[in-house]
Amino acid sequence: MVPSSDYRQFSKVLSKAKHIIVVAGAGLSAASGIPTFRGAGGLWRKYNAMTLATPQAFKRDPSLVWQFYHYRRETALKVKPNAAHRALAEFSLSSIRSLHAPNSTFTLITQNVDGLSIIALDDVLSSNPPEPEEQPRILEMHGRLFDVKCSSKTCGYVQFDRSSPICEGLRGVEELVDKNAMDPDIAKTELPRCSKCNALARPGVVWFEEMPLYLNVIDKLVDKADLCLVVGTSSTVYPAAGYAETVSQNGGQVAVFNLDRSDGDEDADFLFLGPGEETVPKALRLKTD
Ligand code: APR
Ligand code: ZN
Repeated sequence: MVPSSDYRQFSKVLSKAKHIIVVAGAGLSAASGIPTFRGAGGLWRKYNAMTLATPQAFKRDPSLVWQFYHYRRETALKVKPNAAHRALAEFSLSSIRSLHAPNSTFTLITQNVDGLSIIALDDVLSSNPPEPEEQPRILEMHGRLFDVKCSSKTCGYVQFDRSSPICEGLRGVEELVDKNAMDPDIAKTELPRCSKCNALARPGVVWFEEMPLYLNVIDKLVDKADLCLVVGTSSTVYPAAGYAETVSQNGGQVAVFNLDRSDGDEDADFLFLGPGEETVPKALRLKTD
């Protein structure tokens, strides 16, 4: 069956849903000015961003990997949540959600590490009456760009740190983005260090070959879900890429929101092609701006 792009029909499904999950990816933050991984924005200097997101790359060249994450941190510090982050944050409040999906639960499972969904949620929470959190509103399954984690296994201390620059050794190198730029070789002693044991620190994100976070909680939410919204992800990286299929196999419905065609979207019940910052608020019947 060809997926539907009918917002009214989606609204009906939404109104009956009991357990809603959202699986989000880099496309959710694209309109905020954060480049996606695959496609046009996927290069940093002359490197494919994905080749730097591995434990091996960090072991081989911590200076280069830190420069890449420093650039991403500085970018994320400059930008703001967009209408899709805001709509999802509003929808995570049961007082707002009850208008369109009464008696439902809601969790946003994001692969993004930029923290924009949390900022949007904090904004929404501060301007609405308090309400209990029945289940996690947001799970950042690939970690957080602003967590700085000790690389020593015996210590492993994690500190949330939004300072700019994160250390003097990295000051200004975020400007070097040209593909012909020389990579400065920053000594390990000048890179971020653990504030507890002084070992070399690493970005607190989940790299390829590492285990995503909160998998037990997520697996339970996915098994229970009867509606899965897939927002701005190429659906190529597992386990997140498999969640929609599980919901579908369990008899639930899937709605994909993407600028373009993405893996597996032909099997979705709904497909809303276009900028997520427009389609998501529209589908959730919330303001675009
Ligand atoms: N609105 C909706 N979708 C968009 C928008 C937009 N404004 N802009 C881009 N997209 C879509 C693209 O069409 C693409 O399908 O967002 C998707 C981004 O895909 P990827 O770059 O592959 O990002 P993501 O799916 O989040 O990658 C998953 O891979 O590199 C690792 O750990 C990293 O979390 C990341 C994971
Ligand atoms: Zn330490």
